[in-house]
Amino acid sequence: MTIDFDALRRRFPLLERKTYLNSGSYCALADTVRDAFNAYMDDRLAVGANWDVWVTKNEAVRAAMAGVLRVTPDEIAVTASASAGINALASALDFTGPRRKVVISDFEFPTNAQIWHAQARLGAEVVHVPPAADGHIPLENFERVIDERTQLVAVTQVCFRNGARLDIAGITRLAHERGARVMVDCYQAIGAMTVDARALDVDFAVGGMLKYLLGTAGIGFLYVRSELIGELVPSHSGWFAQQDISAMDITANRPSPSARRFEAGTPPVVNCYAAEAGLKIILETGTDAIEERVRSLTRRCMQRLTSIGWPSVTPADDGRRGPMVAVPSRDAAGLFARLLEQDIVTSFRDNNIRATVHFYNSAADIDRFVAAMAGHRGQFGPQT
Ligand SMILES: Cc1ncc(COP(=O)(O)O)c(C=O)c1O
Repeated sequence: MTIDFDALRRRFPLLERKTYLNSGSYCALADTVRDAFNAYMDDRLAVGANWDVWVTKNEAVRAAMAGVLRVTPDEIAVTASASAGINALASALDFTGPRRKVVISDFEFPTNAQIWHAQARLGAEVVHVPPAADGHIPLENFERVIDERTQLVAVTQVCFRNGARLDIAGITRLAHERGARVMVDCYQAIGAMTVDARALDVDFAVGGMLKYLLGTAGIGFLYVRSELIGELVPSHSGWFAQQDISAMDITANRPSPSARRFEAGTPPVVNCYAAEAGLKIILETGTDAIEERVRSLTRRCMQRLTSIGWPSVTPADDGRRGPMVAVPSRDAAGLFARLLEQDIVTSFRDNNIRATVHFYNSAADIDRFVAAMAGHRGQFGPQT
C-alpha cells in the first residue's frame, strides 16, 4: 500500500506556514487532534461530567498505545508523563538486596538519570556508561558495566542531544544474560520509528504523546512485560491503580493485576482525547512506513549538510540514528533564533541545532533548511 504523505501533510495546518523540524520537542497539531480537543469541550459544555466517556477515552489510549508498541493493553499504564512512568516503576523496585546497581548511559534525557539518582536514598547505585572516543556508545561499553550486581539497565533509545541510536536489542540480550532487566526510554523514537517491545525484548518502556505520537503534553505511558507485573508492587499508587477503582476501600492497597497498577489518580482526560486522535494517525499510517520515510529525509538532510561543508554529528549509518539530525554550531542559540526569523523551526541542545523530522516533513522542508544553513555558515558554523 502506498501512503499519500502529501495528503497527510495537509492535515497539519502549521506546515503551510512553517518549515517545522521540531517534532522531537513537540509535534505539529493535526486537524483531528484539534477536533478531539474541541470534542472534549463540547462534552463538558453539553453533558458536564461525562465519567463513562472519560473512562472509555483512557482505555482507548491504552489500547492504541499497546498497538503502537505491539503488546497487549494489560501491559500498558497510561501516565501523566514519561517521568511519572519511571517514578512508578522505581517505586516498585527494591535496592536493599545484592542487585543495587542501575546502569544508565551518558545519553540520557535528564529525567531518566535524575529519578534513578533519587533512588540512592533507598540504596540504589547509579552507574553511567560513557561514550567512546567517536562520540557514540558501543555495546562493549555496556558489557564492561552490566554485572551480577545490576538490577536494571535504564537507557534511552535515541539520544536527545545528537540523534544517535543505542543498540537496545543488544543491550537487552547482554542484560538478560546477566540477570538484569531493561527499561527503554523510547520518547525520542516512538511514532517516528517502529518500537516493537517484544522484538527488542525489553522489560519496560516509557515515553509520552507530545512528540512523534502527535498528541499533547501531560500524558505518557509505561509498558511492563506481562510476566513481571504480578511481582512488582509500586508504592507510587492511588485509586486508579487499584484492582477495583470503584471499591473505595480505605483499608488496604489492592493493586490491579494489570499494568494499571502503575497509574495513580484521575486520568489526564482532556489529554486522552488528543492522544487517542494522534495515536490513530500513527496506527493508520504504520510505523514501518513512517520509519522508512523519516530515514530517507534524515539521510537527505545529512548528505546535503555535508555538501555545504557543515556535516552533522549524528551517525550517518541508517541503523544508528533516530529521527534527528544534530548540527554543531559555535552559537546554537543564535542560529536557532536566525532560523526562526525565516520560519524554520528547530531546537538546540548544547552546541547543536537539532532538526527533528516526522513523516509530515517533505524533501522541500529539508532543502529549505539546508539552504538557510548554507547562508548562516560563515557566522554560525562549527567551532574551529
Ligand atoms: C528521551 C526523553 N525522555 C524523557 C523526556 C521527558 O518526558 P516527560 O516530560 O514526559 O517526563 C523527554 C522530553 O523531552 C525526552 O526527550
